[in-house]
Amino acid sequence: MNKKTHFGFQEVDEADKSKFVGDVFTSVAKNYDVMNDAMSFGMHRLWKKILVELASVGEKDVILDVASGTGDISKLISKEYPNTKVFMSDINYEMLDEGRNRAIDESFDDNCYFCQLSGETLPFKDNTFDLITVGFGLRNFTNKEYGLKEMRRCLKKNGKLLILEFSKPMNPIFSKLYDWYSFNILPRLGSMLANDSDSYKYLAESIRMHPDQERLKQMMESAGFNECRFHNLLNGVVAIHIGYHD
Ligand SMILES: C[S@@+](CC[C@H](N)C(=O)[O-])C[C@H]1O[C@@H](n2cnc3c(N)ncnc32)[C@H](O)[C@@H]1O
Repeated sequence: MNKKTHFGFQEVDEADKSKFVGDVFTSVAKNYDVMNDAMSFGMHRLWKKILVELASVGEKDVILDVASGTGDISKLISKEYPNTKVFMSDINYEMLDEGRNRAIDESFDDNCYFCQLSGETLPFKDNTFDLITVGFGLRNFTNKEYGLKEMRRCLKKNGKLLILEFSKPMNPIFSKLYDWYSFNILPRLGSMLANDSDSYKYLAESIRMHPDQERLKQMMESAGFNECRFHNLLNGVVAIHIGYHD
């Protein structure tokens, strides 16, 4: 029997998930930034700034931005710390291409390198990076445990992983409102602004299937990270998880 996983609320063969996820991001790539601003009322920009603050980037750090997409996190780091080396990486060519074009257009490409790769099988030696970031990417992995172990392997001793991801709201009333927004408004916004309601239905479903704050913290600990902790943002709609390699 083929191993199963989730693609949103659907159960699919593990072997098929990355193709389905790939189709979603190929479809949204051109409208990704506009949709992000519309869906989050611009708040994703603040969440990413907080991630970079919490990362305490060193002036000459070597950094891997996994699932970098159109490059918001890479841009913040690259502009603020021009002597770092930032590896922008994404499994999806169209998303990486949007990020690369943007890096050139917005002049943050000097210290950036562009790699098409899966965060689940990193083609880097052990102990390569001072910092690894993943913004809204882990949710889409087929096997999050492999991904976390790979990221730990590629971090230097004392290196850190920061994961920004949708999570679980703490307040039950707020949670109900958020559910209503996610399943009624998001797909409509997707349809109006990007002519693509299915991808935004997947977004809402994939968020619900993603491990909550405590579970993701446990997964990081099981993958070998130390001093794991998380910070809730917007009542836990989003959380930033942090863990260290020793
Ligand atoms: C929601 S976007 C996030 C982009 C960007 N980090 C941001 O915060 O705006 C998710 C990205 O994850 C990428 N992705 C999905 N599965 C991946 C995997 N296994 N390895 C690397 N990237 C992946 C997608 O191609 C997509 O660009």
